Amino acid sequence: MKPDVVLGNDVVDLEEPRSAGKAADRRFVARVLAKVEREGLDRADDPDLELWSLWAAKEAAFKVVSKLRGTPPVFEHDAFVTSWNRTTSRSSMETEVRAGIVRHGEVRVDVSVLHRAGVLHAVGHTHRAPAADVAVQVGLGRLDDAGAPWAAGLDELLRRFTPREADAIHSLASAAVRLGARRALAARAGVEEHRLQIVSRPGTTGRRPPFVLLDGREAPADVSLSHAGAWIGWALWSHPDFGLAPPPDTG
Ligand SMILES: CC(C)(COP(=O)(O)OP(=O)(O)OC[C@H]1O[C@@H](n2cnc3c(N)ncnc32)[C@H](O)[C@@H]1OP(=O)(O)O)[C@@H](O)C(=O)NCCC(=O)NCCS
Repeated sequence: MKPDVVLGNDVVDLEEPRSAGKAADRRFVARVLAKVEREGLDRADDPDLELWSLWAAKEAAFKVVSKLRGTPPVFEHDAFVTSWNRTTSRSSMETEVRAGIVRHGEVRVDVSVLHRAGVLHAVGHTHRAPAADVAVQVGLGRLDDAGAPWAAGLDELLRRFTPREADAIHSLASAAVRLGARRALAARAGVEEHRLQIVSRPGTTGRRPPFVLLDGREAPADVSLSHAGAWIGWALWSHPDFGLAPPPDTG
């Protein structure tokens, strides 16, 4: 079952040492930004922030396009072209949100990029079909968040997954983000978490788009996962009818 809403998300750890000063690397900028984006970078008050916001938006859109096509396109960053249309500051929470569109050929992905101290979180979505409810739910956390559901070692976390889920997991962050997303989806859809699985088809480690199973069957929902440094982020959508069917009778 293909979900009506298709999601992508990307986290950028701004404290990663290689992030600082990257906007001055003209070869990198020429490779990843389209002309119109480079012009925006030249006008930006904070060029590094502008560069990584564009990067995060493109990566989120790449994930959307991969899922729409059923196979990833060649990732030529400059073929994903971003235009911002809004910036909202919420100074009390030290956050800023930019909103815009990333175009890739005929595909148009709505994106928003949250900037909070030390991190960017981009979320993109597009529609495969008109959806009754397009509210996308996002989550952002850190591996060292005290009391989080993922606050444990990898061996302990792996015990909380089915073999099919665990097949795609390759690191602590990879496990943590799936736990965070699975729990959030259970709460959003009002189903018991043990009925849900976040799985991937066979493929190259780290290049396998995730999807959702409910009681072992593909569900009318979508999920996107990202991890960078100590940060994990996810985006979720579920159809309003998700989980209305009772669980299969296992007795
Ligand atoms: C998708 C991609 C851009 C994400 O890379 P990243 O920023 O390092 O990783 P993130 O943490 O943001 O995202 C990873 C998650 O995205 C998901 N994902 C991976 N590939 C995906 C895809 N094509 N579409 C949607 N989701 C994808 C997985 O859930 C993955 O989680 P996992 O590693 O725990 O399995 C990268 O995997 C990729 O495919 N790059 C393209 C490389 C390419 O085409 N090169 C061609 C030129 S040589």
